[in-house]
Amino acid sequence: MKDKIVVFDSGLGGLNIYKTLTNKHPNENYIYFADELYLPYGTKSVEFLKQRIRSIIEYFKDAKAIVIACNTASSIYRLLDLNYPNVYEIIDVTSQYAYNTSRNKKIGVIATDLTIELGMYQDALNKLNAKVFPLKYSELVDFIEGKDQYSEEEYLRIVNESLKDKFSFFKDSDIDSLICGCTHFGYLIDEYKKHLTVSNYVIS
Ligand code: DGL
Repeated sequence: MKDKIVVFDSGLGGLNIYKTLTNKHPNENYIYFADELYLPYGTKSVEFLKQRIRSIIEYFKDAKAIVIACNTASSIYRLLDLNYPNVYEIIDVTSQYAYNTSRNKKIGVIATDLTIELGMYQDALNKLNAKVFPLKYSELVDFIEGKDQYSEEEYLRIVNESLKDKFSFFKDSDIDSLICGCTHFGYLIDEYKKHLTVSNYVIS
């Protein structure tokens, strides 16, 4: 275990981060852990997830690094009293990047219901003096994980119907950046562009 980098998410979303890491550091040894038995995380209780995330981290604690490639699990991790120096979560680094790359510092965040309820993105961005527009969107995780039950055409139709409705939240916000604060959401950037004009999509 000591030579392994463990990347974990509730499901497929963290594969984006896994691919980035393997491209940048191809000589490392990796384990990708998808906790699909307990997917989705974003609508589960805080108490349940605290236990679950703690036990995953403790199981892999001897790894070279543990990358929490999940915004919901990263938010939960911040509530735990664990101080492992080899654990990396993704909220602060994403918020800082979005802040640095935004021109008007008006930033939208789409994430699971729980990530938004826990408010870690809002806190991190508020500390930076950005204006934040947070939107709960766990429904989108269900579409992405359930993609195989639909034809491509049907999938895109229901996704776009949902986006049209949900993204009306940003109508008068004047945001120039959108944090896709759920690792699953990076898969649908082309669709977001049909309903929202921002200069900056930050995938996390
Ligand atoms: N991919 C996860 C995230 O980044 C959560 C998806 C879920 O299990 O609800 O928040």
